[in-house]
Amino acid sequence: MSFIEFKEVDLTFQTKVQRIPIFKGLNLEIEKGEFITIAGPSGKGKSTLLNLVSGFVKPTGGEIWVDGKNLSKMNDTQVCDYRNKRIGYIFQTFNLIQQFNVRDNVAVPLLLSGMKKKQAYEKVEELLDKVGMTNRILEYPRTLSGGEQQRVAFARAIANNPDIILADEPTGNLDTKNGELIVNLLMEANKENGTTVLCVSHDERIIEKGQRTILIEEITCVE
Ligand SMILES: Nc1ncnc2c1ncn2[C@@H]1O[C@H](COP(=O)(O)OP(=O)(O)OP(=O)(O)O)[C@@H](O)[C@H]1O
Ligand SMILES: [Mg+2]
Repeated sequence: MSFIEFKEVDLTFQTKVQRIPIFKGLNLEIEKGEFITIAGPSGKGKSTLLNLVSGFVKPTGGEIWVDGKNLSKMNDTQVCDYRNKRIGYIFQTFNLIQQFNVRDNVAVPLLLSGMKKKQAYEKVEELLDKVGMTNRILEYPRTLSGGEQQRVAFARAIANNPDIILADEPTGNLDTKNGELIVNLLMEANKENGTTVLCVSHDERIIEKGQRTILIEEITCVE
């Protein structure tokens, strides 16, 4: 069995006004340590694919297995635990907590997994140093630029040395220099820690580093 496996996954969103079919009978196999890039047109399901792996979204049919466990069979507590311990998520819209400063944002996953505050704050400094953000440690997200928030979000995502990094256009808001910094950090996590990376991106610098690209148009059976 592969590290991440989608078996005949169907997904249809139902809003108040319409049904939005996204995936039908989707089969995917991803091995541990792979670096996968995901590309395709807007609105076709790239972010949704990451949300399925993280357990944020549940499929309407089929099964998703991660490291031998069926995500659909987990209860809410188990899904939260899985997400906190094993997944690092860099959202398209950062999702930093506005009421928390930079330090506390990055500390959240560490504290949730039981680390003591003093130790967590030390680790936060180390992480912020990697992304060049230590000088903004006591600022609040609203005072940061998009690219700066993206770098803080990256530090938060790698805080717990996750087995899987889900990154949604992580260089979308960054200039060349900071874009390269994030690409290199993703590569480092992948090469040195064997982290499996699923990264939505149209950025050539990322696509050329990835081992395989999933083109969402080709796997999406729903028109
Ligand atoms: N929770 C939800 N409820 C209803 N519809 C949703 C939900 N999440 C996503 N969708 C719809 O599913 C479709 C795919 O969304 P998704 O965010 O995965 O697209 P995407 O490929 O990441 O696009 P983009 O490149 O613009 O980020 C969109 O039409 C979106 O409106
Ligand atoms: Mg998206």
